[in-house]
Amino acid sequence: MNLNVLYFVVLFLLPCNISALNILGIFPYHGKSHFIVFKVYLEELAKRGHNVTVISHFPQADPPERYHDISLAGSLDSIEDNLPFHRSFLTLLEIGLSLTNSGNDNCKVLLANKDVQNIVKQKQKFDVIVIEQFNSDCALGIAYKLQVPVVGISSHVLMPWHYNRFGIPSNPSFVPFHFSEGGTKPTLMQKLERTVLDVYFKTIYYFFSQRRNQQTLAQYYDDIPPLENLARDIKFLFLYHNFILTGSRLFPANVIEVGGYHVTEAKPLSGDLLKFVEEAEHGVIYISFGSVVRSSTMPDDKLNAMLGAIAEMPQRFIWKWEEKIMLMDKNKLYLSSWLPQVDILGHPKTLAFLSHAGMGGTTEALHFGVPIVAMPVCGDQPSNAAAIEENGLGVQLQIRDLTKENLIAAFKKVLDSKFRDKVKLLSKAWHDRPMPPLDTAIYWTEYAARYSNLTFRTPAADLPFYEYYNFDVVAVYVILLVSIIYTFKWTVSHLCCPKKKYRNVYEHVRKNKNTKRMKRE
Ligand SMILES: *[C@@H]1O[C@H](CO)[C@@H](O)[C@H](O)[C@H]1NC(C)=O
Ligand SMILES: *[C@@H]1O[C@H](CO)[C@@H](O)[C@H](O)[C@H]1NC(C)=O
Repeated sequence: MNLNVLYFVVLFLLPCNISALNILGIFPYHGKSHFIVFKVYLEELAKRGHNVTVISHFPQADPPERYHDISLAGSLDSIEDNLPFHRSFLTLLEIGLSLTNSGNDNCKVLLANKDVQNIVKQKQKFDVIVIEQFNSDCALGIAYKLQVPVVGISSHVLMPWHYNRFGIPSNPSFVPFHFSEGGTKPTLMQKLERTVLDVYFKTIYYFFSQRRNQQTLAQYYDDIPPLENLARDIKFLFLYHNFILTGSRLFPANVIEVGGYHVTEAKPLSGDLLKFVEEAEHGVIYISFGSVVRSSTMPDDKLNAMLGAIAEMPQRFIWKWEEKIMLMDKNKLYLSSWLPQVDILGHPKTLAFLSHAGMGGTTEALHFGVPIVAMPVCGDQPSNAAAIEENGLGVQLQIRDLTKENLIAAFKKVLDSKFRDKVKLLSKAWHDRPMPPLDTAIYWTEYAARYSNLTFRTPAADLPFYEYYNFDVVAVYVILLVSIIYTFKWTVSHLCCPKKKYRNVYEHVRKNKNTKRMKRE
């Protein structure tokens, strides 16, 4: 065989995924903590030779080659640092409403964008469209107009309205509920609570987001099928899970766990922060409540509990804090409104992480094997915190239980050397996968484009709820059983015990009564 022939043979044997794809990403939600995760995946697609067009609120200052932005930035108010440090049933219901309402705003902004309209008008050619699965299904309408297969992507655990469309079991007895406590082992009370909340969240989603998205789409395009039907056609869902963190779940083959791909290698710390960490004789504990919750809205008693615990622990503390006021000795507590979280968690002197248990920070801690004290505030944080505790990555401390003593006890527990060994083991298992999570996400994206004519969803996704829960079968058997019982009763009363006998008994009673009356008279 001469070399030229060999060259062509090798070329044909190479997997077909080396051909560059045209990929469209649609991210109408304006939450930065979500896009931080997606950005890593989208950039990697471009680095691997695909032509990537991204519609989002976060255009890149310096995009990589083949990465094209369509910017929605500035059209909606930012949602950074604006949630209070507070948790109650009422705030939960309110957050649900604002989430679904923002799904409606996100849709309006998306469809009003001229560049987005042009993509549809010109029927621009794409091989696959990546759409965030969160608070709106509006973008599915655009995918429908372009007749392109869709891959769903998420930066956290499932929302309540996503179970049905992928045919994923949502049994409250063992499936953790996004917004509430109890994890995989809820009490009866917690099961009752999550059942009601599930109905609430699904109802407001269908009414305030999906139905209004459908109406908004109808103002632009007159042929969009029901969005819930389009949602069932999504080829794959990339979930930010991995069973090491979220536990073993029941997912169909087209729901792929890709949790953890956004975490980059830790860079060395620098300046003041480096000095603070290096000089910490007993190590440091890092505190952050993420990009959405404002630590400085903490009520005084909770703040005093935190400061009291910090003062008593031998460790030094680093806290993401938005106000300028100094709370404590500079050699004990380092405050800054911006901190290089990954670099801090990756430093060997960092011994624990007090966190609100957002999915981003949780996966970063697991990546570097840092135990967590989880204090959930809102969103998916209660279910993440439950997973952290159940799997041995840390302990939970609810805001209502935050006292100096409880916090010190929680720190002591996760600082224990046995506890830390378990976390190191979990971290090792987290990294030990047949394919790194970023490669996995990219592999299945390319796969969706290659086999766009095939369907991968489970038949469970196509069933109406009464069939899914076997209500029809139960109904038939109940009717059958009731009929048998009645037939049996009727037969007994009409056939084996003749009417005469009853009449005799009756007459006997009447005679008795008559004789009694006669005696009295
Ligand atoms: C890549 O995407 C851009 C932006 O959507 C588009 O203008 C361009 O034509 C695409 N390139 C190819 C080779 O398809
Ligand atoms: C895939 O489906 C499209 C549209 O229905 C059709 O034109 C095409 O021939 C199909 N491709 C294969 C390989 O079946």
